[in-house]
Amino acid sequence: MANNLLKGKRGIIFGALDENSIAWKTALKVKEEGGSFTLTNAPIAMRMGKINELAKACDTEVISADATSEEDLKNLFTKSMELLGGKIDFVLHSIGMSPNIRKGKEYGDMNYDWYLKTLDISALSFHKILQTAEKLDAMNEWGSIVGLSYIAAQRSYPDYTDMAQAKAMLESIARSYGARFAKLKKVRVNTISQSPTKTTAGAGISGFDVFFDFANMMSPLGNATAEDCAAYITVLFSDFTRMVTMQNLMHDGGFSSTGITQEMVDRLSK
Ligand SMILES: NC(=O)c1ccc[n+]([C@@H]2O[C@H](COP(=O)([O-])OP(=O)(O)OC[C@H]3O[C@@H](n4cnc5c(N)ncnc54)[C@H](O)[C@@H]3O)[C@@H](O)[C@H]2O)c1
Repeated sequence: MANNLLKGKRGIIFGALDENSIAWKTALKVKEEGGSFTLTNAPIAMRMGKINELAKACDTEVISADATSEEDLKNLFTKSMELLGGKIDFVLHSIGMSPNIRKGKEYGDMNYDWYLKTLDISALSFHKILQTAEKLDAMNEWGSIVGLSYIAAQRSYPDYTDMAQAKAMLESIARSYGARFAKLKKVRVNTISQSPTKTTAGAGISGFDVFFDFANMMSPLGNATAEDCAAYITVLFSDFTRMVTMQNLMHDGGFSSTGITQEMVDRLSK
């Protein structure tokens, strides 16, 4: 049921690759709630062509941008304001990629050029987006900027390797830039720490199915889905969360507060 939560608001959504992407579900939800936005992804992802289907369904346009390129980001913000007819109210950073994970490198055998790429794509890009928005004075007052994180920022997971550092950095950027943007323009900056979710990025991590099932069993409400995440992001873009900023918000069915569940006790007792 739509409530027009985002009526009159304009935004930019990064990271919709296919219908499983959290950004894809978010675009549909934001549209349903009356928001208007542009879509963007890296040139290589654009070649898959899927994002154009989403743009059609959302009656919008795709502007290609590599989130590590300041020039691309400047072009993206400038064109988005032109197309949407004004300054921006919300931005979703839904970007993650580790060449080390892609190539199956172990944590004791990292390629450091790739490590830096992981940090650039998955974390520093968040700072670049925020800084571009500030320099272009692209944000409206009380705007909302959200990045997507994972609990590997706080806890160790064997196959998450350099992405764990990227997520820790992403969350730290939200706190530091959140303080700055609040003072400058009353813009809020948060990260959402999402449950394991079956998407292209998620499934790229070896052992994913096991820690998906483990998290599900260890979360009293079960794992949060991509649709649940899209709904939460939409609320964070809305005026109902105007005083929430500089937070890493757990969206995990209770996983992060759970010691052990009865389900797990029963399972291990067998
Ligand atoms: N899937 C999970 O289990 C899970 C859990 C917690 C957090 N997250 C986070 O959610 C976010 C979205 O991931 P997803 O699970 O929807 O997977 P996804 O693979 O659908 O999305 C990742 C996106 O990052 C984009 N991207 C990669 N390099 C880029 C670049 N240089 N410039 C611009 N875009 C680039 C990809 O094209 C893709 O659209 C990521 O930050 C991910 O780490 C995912």
